Amino acid sequence: ECGGGAEAIVPEEVARWLPRRSAHCHKNQFGRVLLLGGSRGFTGAPAMAASAAHRVGAGLVTLGVREEVYPVVAAHSRLETMVFPISDESLLASNLSRATVVAIGPGLGLDRAAEDLLALLVEENRSPAVFDADALTLFARNPGLLDRLRFPAVLTPHPGEMSRLLGRKIRDEEREEAAREFVERTPATLVLKGTRTLVVRKGESFWYNTTGNPGLAAGGSGDILLGILAGLIGQGIPPWEAAKLGVWLHGRAADLLLQAREVEEGILATEVVESLAGAIRSF
Ligand code: APR
Ligand code: MG
Repeated sequence: ECGGGAEAIVPEEVARWLPRRSAHCHKNQFGRVLLLGGSRGFTGAPAMAASAAHRVGAGLVTLGVREEVYPVVAAHSRLETMVFPISDESLLASNLSRATVVAIGPGLGLDRAAEDLLALLVEENRSPAVFDADALTLFARNPGLLDRLRFPAVLTPHPGEMSRLLGRKIRDEEREEAAREFVERTPATLVLKGTRTLVVRKGESFWYNTTGNPGLAAGGSGDILLGILAGLIGQGIPPWEAAKLGVWLHGRAADLLLQAREVEEGILATEVVESLAGAIRSF
């Protein structure tokens, strides 16, 4: 259990962060999300993250993918998503400079090209950023890179990625301790995923999420969370608040889906995305 100063994330606390939409609002008020990922064999992950960013209200969603999968990802992404190949340096630079949030990692790969892209982002980016999946594994290989972040950051490891980041195996009962140890080294917000996801930051009390169910234990769930967080932060919600709101919405969407279908088996990440409207409606 999450004892010792841990607090449950409750909808009353997080609901107020979702921006109200006035009759005169404009897409520029809801941010420009830039997502980076996708490689041979991993064409679904970045597209799923993009669709989740759309479904939490992002104004514009741009998806940069590796050249080798660009036509495939562009063809199966939502028509609302703007997809471009990362190899186009001028498109990458202009998208980076305009983004209100950058999210990197799903299906990114672990090769030299992925390393270079992550290093470029760390140097050039000035917007808040969310790091997941392969981006976390690359940080684990090159911990010095984490110390160079000059923008607000959120890291979303699952327990395996957390173990890599800390350089030792983390048992389930050590999650809190591991999370505390990690945030001592960095000002970043840590979202340690799993049953009862933890949201932790240096100097703050511990938060744990109570929404979500075993239906989420399937590939793609993490990509959806990444897209949700990017979509929320891109709209101007501070990363720490967006992390709490995002994990709550993600689990709530899955819980509503489970209520409707009454079986945990076979819940698809893409269905969780479509259930986000219901999760937002619960506020
Ligand atoms: N109860 C509640 N939430 C859960 C549960 C559960 N039993 N199981 C999973 N989740 C949630 C987690 O909290 C997290 O938000 O689902 C999400 C899973 O995220 P990831 O572990 O990142 O899963 P994903 O990336 O979609 O797919 C896993 O990717 O990184 C690789 O090694 C990983 O091959 C594996 C695949
Ligand atoms: Mg993952």
